[in-house]
Amino acid sequence: MADSANNVEGASVTRLTQPGHTDGGSSPAQDVAPVIELIDLHKTYRVGTELVHALRGTSLAIRENEYVAIMGASGSGKSTMLNILGCLDVPTDGIYRLRGQDVSRLSQTKLAGIRGRQIGFIFQSFELLGRTTALKNVELPLRYTRARHRRQRAIEALERVSLLDRAHHRPNQLSGGQKQRVAIARALAQKPAIILADEPTGNLDSTTGEEIMDILDGLHADGQTIIIVTHEDHIARRCRRTIRLKDGRIVLDTGDGARSGAGAAAERVDEVASKP
Ligand SMILES: Nc1ncnc2c1ncn2[C@@H]1O[C@H](COP(=O)(O)OP(=O)(O)O)[C@@H](O)[C@H]1O
Ligand SMILES: [Mg+2]
Repeated sequence: MADSANNVEGASVTRLTQPGHTDGGSSPAQDVAPVIELIDLHKTYRVGTELVHALRGTSLAIRENEYVAIMGASGSGKSTMLNILGCLDVPTDGIYRLRGQDVSRLSQTKLAGIRGRQIGFIFQSFELLGRTTALKNVELPLRYTRARHRRQRAIEALERVSLLDRAHHRPNQLSGGQKQRVAIARALAQKPAIILADEPTGNLDSTTGEEIMDILDGLHADGQTIIIVTHEDHIARRCRRTIRLKDGRIVLDTGDGARSGAGAAAERVDEVASKP
């Protein structure tokens, strides 16, 4: 925090990606509006008399079915960005459009509604209700958005993560990997526009972590838009696009690779990952 606090004046604008721009490829995804559009986004926290510029003019577009890793050192602005993308917080300045709707200045109540319907969260620490079965953990959030066929949707979501046989287990009767699968099912049940995952494998051993990534890979293959915050290169390499933040700015975005095919993107990510 202190590192970014000494640079308080003149949050300059660096636009490294042009939202909405395409370069003549043939993917049908180019023709639809982005799921996420950030335009010159700023987030400034006030701590006492100091201002902390957590995001300093970030612009990007994420299209449907993109699979994005957000990387960067501690304090670079990853959580701030994820909180804004997830409608848990609003920017100080700039625009955030989610599926074309400007959500940058909405009230907390409206944001909560959007969160419930459009965003699926997966956290490092699972965040399940401890005394509640896996099935109820998946089903309960559907109540808040008055979704229909809640039980059926919860069952289908648990089935999708191969956990239906643990539907009546409580979290303390499940392994870490199983808990994270419940959390993925909970995120999925809402059929969200985007899944946001904050270090989803951070509390798991590497084998279990790979299993969780296999599930996320599968969801991406099924068409889900996924954004993962991670500091692990091998997780980022699974994604098709890497966005790297430094001091609240995007210093690298392999996004063009996402439009010129998965193979090209994977190569670029490898290049990025092998840098010191
Ligand atoms: N609620 C807050 N109040 C004040 N400063 C904050 C707050 N949240 C984050 N910051 C500061 O903003 C910067 C970016 O933080 P954060 O988004 O949490 O980074 P990361 O997730 O990449 O570690 C840091 O300098 C951090 O100290
Ligand atoms: Mg963080």
